[in-house]
Amino acid sequence: MTIHARQKEAATSLAIGVDFVPRRAGTGPPTEPSPSGPPASVGVPASDPAHALEELRAEHDATCPHCTAVTGHTQTVFGEGNPAAALMFIGEAPGAEEDRTGRPFVGRAGKKLDEMIVAMGLARADVYIANVLKSRPPNNRTPLPDEIAGCSPFLMRQVQIIQPKVIVTLGGPAAKLILNTSEGITRIRGTWHTYDAGTLQVDVMPTFHPAYLLRNYTRETRERVWSDLQAALGRLG
Ligand code: URA
Repeated sequence: MTIHARQKEAATSLAIGVDFVPRRAGTGPPTEPSPSGPPASVGVPASDPAHALEELRAEHDATCPHCTAVTGHTQTVFGEGNPAAALMFIGEAPGAEEDRTGRPFVGRAGKKLDEMIVAMGLARADVYIANVLKSRPPNNRTPLPDEIAGCSPFLMRQVQIIQPKVIVTLGGPAAKLILNTSEGITRIRGTWHTYDAGTLQVDVMPTFHPAYLLRNYTRETRERVWSDLQAALGRLG
């Protein structure tokens, strides 16, 4: 689908009631990328990304220092979507529904993410969705630094296999990890950054987590998220 077709479809989605609103004049375009990024990760891009992701999933489930040590979860949630997606979303960690199904973003926040993807004129199968952690933290608490340190190298390898053109991080933990920053999400959302892992550079647009959006369902928050998504669409070209 061309960008024009996508934008037309996005406009249609808006017309039929998706509750995101287009960026208004005056909210300003996102700033240009500034180099930043997490520690370089290991892993070589594969010629068959679907196969490489399956191998990585098996390796993760057998060896992840975090996910093999914790016992509170039912199953791991590796991530899903197009193995060669141009657009990748990265969230925080599985919740109860994700833990039950083994799929990322299928609960209430996931339904909102689905709406966001459709409003962009895309389908869930077009993109790839993953999380900082691949197993549910007890009581859905925020991932701890040592949990992230154990599990996130597998996420970095996922990114290297998929090689997306754009990453949209959802919420603070994902932005902090991918951009190697301690800045709060409210300060950095809506501005372009670069995930820099040596041979791979990816444009990164941090935005609010859909769960935050649901908790703060104001016109202002919706406009900000929609503005970030439109910037990502524009970058995809
Ligand atoms: N929140 C996340 O960050 N990830 C999920 O998969 C679901 C909810």
